Amino acid sequence: MEASKTWFQRTIGSHRLLKAFIFLLIDMSLCYPSEPQGELPYVTSDVKEVGGKSFDYIVVGGGTAGCPLAATLSEKFSVLLVERGGSPYGNPLVLDKRFYGFSLIQTDEFSSVAQDFISADGVRNCRGRVLGGSSAINGGFYSRASKDFVNSVGWDEELVKDAYAWVESRIVSTPELTPWQTVVEFALLEAGILPYNGFSLEHIEGTKIGGSIFDIWGTRHTSADLLKAANPKNIVVLLNATVKSIIFHSNGNASTTAVHGIRFIKSDGSTDQTYEAYLNQPKNSTSSGDVILSAGALGSPQILLLSGIGPHKHLKNFNIPHVLSLKGVGKGMKDNPCIAVLVDTDPQSRQPEPPQVTGIAKDFKYIVEGGIIPTSFNATRMPIAAKIAFPVSEGKLTLNSTDPRQNPSVKFNYLAEEKDLEDCANMVSLLERVAKSQSVTFYLGVKHQNNLMASTDEQRKFCKENVKTYFHYHGGCTVGSVVDDDYKVYGVKGLRVVDGSTFLESPGTNPMATLLMLGRYQGIKILRERENFSSSFSTQQSP
Ligand SMILES: Cc1cc2nc3c(=O)[nH]c(=O)nc-3n(C[C@H](O)[C@H](O)[C@H](O)COP(=O)(O)OP(=O)(O)OC[C@H]3O[C@@H](n4cnc5c(N)ncnc54)[C@H](O)[C@@H]3O)c2cc1C
Ligand SMILES: *[C@@H]1O[C@H](CO)[C@@H](O)[C@H](O)[C@H]1NC(C)=O
Ligand SMILES: *[C@@H]1O[C@H](CO)[C@@H](O)[C@H](O)[C@H]1NC(C)=O
Ligand SMILES: *[C@@H]1O[C@H](CO)[C@@H](O)[C@H](O)[C@H]1NC(C)=O
Ligand SMILES: *[C@@H]1O[C@H](CO)[C@@H](O)[C@H](O)[C@H]1NC(C)=O
Ligand SMILES: *[C@@H]1O[C@H](CO)[C@@H](O)[C@H](O)[C@H]1NC(C)=O
Ligand SMILES: *[C@@H]1O[C@H](CO)[C@@H](O)[C@H](O)[C@H]1NC(C)=O
Repeated sequence: MEASKTWFQRTIGSHRLLKAFIFLLIDMSLCYPSEPQGELPYVTSDVKEVGGKSFDYIVVGGGTAGCPLAATLSEKFSVLLVERGGSPYGNPLVLDKRFYGFSLIQTDEFSSVAQDFISADGVRNCRGRVLGGSSAINGGFYSRASKDFVNSVGWDEELVKDAYAWVESRIVSTPELTPWQTVVEFALLEAGILPYNGFSLEHIEGTKIGGSIFDIWGTRHTSADLLKAANPKNIVVLLNATVKSIIFHSNGNASTTAVHGIRFIKSDGSTDQTYEAYLNQPKNSTSSGDVILSAGALGSPQILLLSGIGPHKHLKNFNIPHVLSLKGVGKGMKDNPCIAVLVDTDPQSRQPEPPQVTGIAKDFKYIVEGGIIPTSFNATRMPIAAKIAFPVSEGKLTLNSTDPRQNPSVKFNYLAEEKDLEDCANMVSLLERVAKSQSVTFYLGVKHQNNLMASTDEQRKFCKENVKTYFHYHGGCTVGSVVDDDYKVYGVKGLRVVDGSTFLESPGTNPMATLLMLGRYQGIKILRERENFSSSFSTQQSP
């Protein structure tokens, strides 16, 4: 038994040593010149401390977009950030690159940092449940959106650039390629994914090395690190509290719905007690703050539905009082179909590694990466995986329970549309060229195999039977259907959504960079908007 222990078990076993080591890592990273100095703001798990209090802004979900948003708003206003999970600090499953992927296999119902869900398609998936959100459990690959994307969604190009730079100076590093990543890089080139672009943060066709939120010492920098840029006097971070619903003003008139605050519970379910926090009501109600949902593509539509915003009939099934008909809530759920092929012949006990290189092929239609992922505590596999960047199939999200800690039901309808199936078949050909390249087969010492899938029918069948997630699911509160161009929820005063649920398409090579950027970007937008208000009503005191 002892002898069969892996480096992981041995390391976890010597817990105290590990703690000291992690501490050292964190400490060292603070000395890194590009790391901005700064302390985390006040963090509490005491719901009573926050219950009954008022804030200018309440951000729901301390995830990828929520943390930079809350930090930015705190520059001028009081902010409450509510996160259902705990702290990422001190947790090696989050911070230590050597344990990459372990959080995904060590899950439980209510407390693990990754929460599993199985879509109604039968595909296993997951989302972050910790301060830092999915940036605390993901591959950490950092790549901006293309210029075309930024233009198509109508964002201010200069502000987008500044917001990316703000994020990058704080948490993004240039990776040092591992031997396996170098092999994958050659394989992508061998498969014809050209040109070679070297290191780049841009979303450009060809093969490139991307940025990473893992630094060169192997420490992950989640979005939670961006809270070090907050004004500590203006922000409270509440952990281990799950937001249940939004509170509306009851004395409003029938034609407007205005937000008053939020209801939340303790995430551990130890009591049934519900707590409330409110929005400040400045004297002049034309310039007040918002509740901003940043609970992710599953969390934000779920909270809207639990609050009575969504399709009437569905809410009736759960006896949720209907507040506003917004048919788009939970609609437009998309997940990029992924096909992965294992290039190693059997499980081994290698050190896990996230992808550092990517192939962007066929007019940006396919994204190909390879990593080493743990499948159990002592076994790893080496998949080469590709996603379809612009799937047309979409599905929907509905409630499964009125308990906000439970997953909603979601169906993505992978490959339901003919176009996606056709794209997938072509993607399989590309994937086979990468997986069976000389670079890969030589490095792994596997015999060169030439048994490529012969027919399109075979490839389609393979696609249907093997479709997986690339974890870039999005939609549910899309721009134009649930929120307007300023990310304000249609028909409600004082409510916005800022996260991956607003996307019609997953931006860039992968979405994290753009979600981090979006939090900063929308924060600045809101600050500017209110600056205009206070300067046009100069008698008004900023709250
Ligand atoms: C395994 C995996 C690997 C990935 N790899 C990459 C990668 O390498 N590169 C990349 O760019 N992208 C990657 N992605 C995708 C990317 O991480 C996500 O798209 C992105 O982080 C989503 O950001 P978000 O702000 O929309 O939501 P999240 O970051 O998930 O934040 C939502 C937050 O809200 C909290 N929350 C939810 N409901 C409530 C509630 N009711 N009350 C209080 N809090 C709540 C959650 O706990 C969470 O912290 C990966 C994703 C996964 C899951
Ligand atoms: C918060 O929740 C996490 C995850 O369940 C747990 O490990 C941690 O101890 C909790 N913290 C507090 C202060 O309750
Ligand atoms: C309801 O409120 C809105 C905005 O505050 C206002 O424009 C409208 O006149 C009000 N309607 C009634 C009937 O009071
Ligand atoms: C509030 O805003 C209105 C314009 O909507 C303005 O006329 C009024 O003077 C303001 N009141 C205060 C107290 O600033
Ligand atoms: C992992 O451990 C199990 C049980 O101890 C063993 O059967 C298996 O061979 C191990 N796998 C690897 C890859 O070491
Ligand atoms: C909730 O989920 C369970 C299992 O995932 C499923 O059997 C059930 O039908 C779902 N209920 C609703 C109302 O969606
Ligand atoms: C602020 O006011 C200026 C000048 O009136 C205007 O050009 C700008 O668009 C306004 N900005 C916002 C965010 O409303």
